[in-house]
Amino acid sequence: MILVTGGAGFIGGNFVLDWLAQSGESVVNVDKLTYAGNLETLTSLDGNPGHIFVQADIGDRAVIDRLLVTHRPRAVVNFAAESHVDRSIHGPEDFIQTNVLGTFRLLEAVRHYWSGLSAPDKEAFRFLHVSTDEVYGSLSSTDPAFTETNRYEPNSPYSASKAASDHLVRAWHHTYGLPVVTTNCSNNYGPYHFPEKLIPLMIVNALAGKPLPVYGDGMQIRDWLYVKDHCSAIRRVLEAGRLGETYNVGGWNEKPNIEIVRTVCALLDELRPKADGTSYATQITYVTDRPGHDRRYAIDARKLEAELGWKPAETFETGIRKTVQWYLDNPNWVANVQSGAYREWVGKQYGGGTQGAERAA
Ligand code: NAD
Ligand code: DAU
Repeated sequence: MILVTGGAGFIGGNFVLDWLAQSGESVVNVDKLTYAGNLETLTSLDGNPGHIFVQADIGDRAVIDRLLVTHRPRAVVNFAAESHVDRSIHGPEDFIQTNVLGTFRLLEAVRHYWSGLSAPDKEAFRFLHVSTDEVYGSLSSTDPAFTETNRYEPNSPYSASKAASDHLVRAWHHTYGLPVVTTNCSNNYGPYHFPEKLIPLMIVNALAGKPLPVYGDGMQIRDWLYVKDHCSAIRRVLEAGRLGETYNVGGWNEKPNIEIVRTVCALLDELRPKADGTSYATQITYVTDRPGHDRRYAIDARKLEAELGWKPAETFETGIRKTVQWYLDNPNWVANVQSGAYREWVGKQYGGGTQGAERAA
């Protein structure tokens, strides 16, 4: 069996669902259930003996030690993290606590467990650390895409905390021989994405008739990857990645934010036209920019493609259509994540919806 951390979050949840659908191997899913953790994502696994959910903090050494000894996983896949850049700007402490200290404690627990394994089990064991392209900093419009040898230049409290965790993982391999692999992926989108992030926020705000808040000039560029393709990349790296290596994961889909928002609006216009016949794009509102906002990310995923033969299955066009359709088909999931805590965050970040707006589109 494998042990997954953060498996009630967006990517971890998709990973656990796909893993259990595709393999007979069980999963111990360890998640603290922060505001971003959502067991509703996993309801289809109710009664599935292959899924063991444990609510716990990756930094809780006693619990993690016990789980490792009890379940004896052959691999640990670490998704657990604080993941939202805007929240890291409002309050960086949780990011240091989970992403840095939590990863450190998890590594120590895993090192302790791994060092007690038999020689063949020790050799076969893997610790896969899920990281981000944000550790490489920001690109100009003419810079080549990030490769695995780019210097780390994190610019937000979030990316700095992820960079720190990547360095810890690297050091645990180099110093103690822990068999690690790290993946650095670009922006994911797809089902079960918490609506604090750009794409799901735009979908839920559009449907609710609220402003669609675009930061600054909306010309910041991200590379977008459908979440299931990220999951397939992680499975492949877990299976065949070289020890101590890092692999960039990306979709070759660089797009400015405003184009993403306009695409979401156009799909909603087609799939759920407004009664008054106007476009959802009329709700686009330019708001104050994110402090220290990275201008452009781009991923060069050729190492993963050439070494391990991975390729994304979705284009942006197919993936974004599936995503918008998923949100239309799952209003209960969406309604249930928009709890009091969610409304509190939206009020803090966007001032109740329109405050901070500079000009309408
Ligand atoms: P998410 O915020 O949706 O989910 C994070 C999950 O981790 C939640 O279920 C949360 O409850 C859990 N968690 C948080 N702190 C924990 C702790 N101390 N102990 C145990 N569980 C804890 O995040 P996501 O978007 O699914 O991202 C997953 C991982 O992938 C993160 O490491 C993130 O840095 C990385 N990543 C995300 C993206 C993206 O576009 N979302 C891209 C590249 C890499
Ligand atoms: O690049 C990978 C990273 O992608 C992951 O490591 C992070 O965990 C994940 O959250 C994501 O970070 P971003 O900051 O790129 O994602 P977010 O969805 O918050 O924002 C995407 C872009 O859209 C970014 O340029 C900011 C902008 N934006 C975001 C929000 C929430 C807006 O213009 N308006 C918004 O309301």
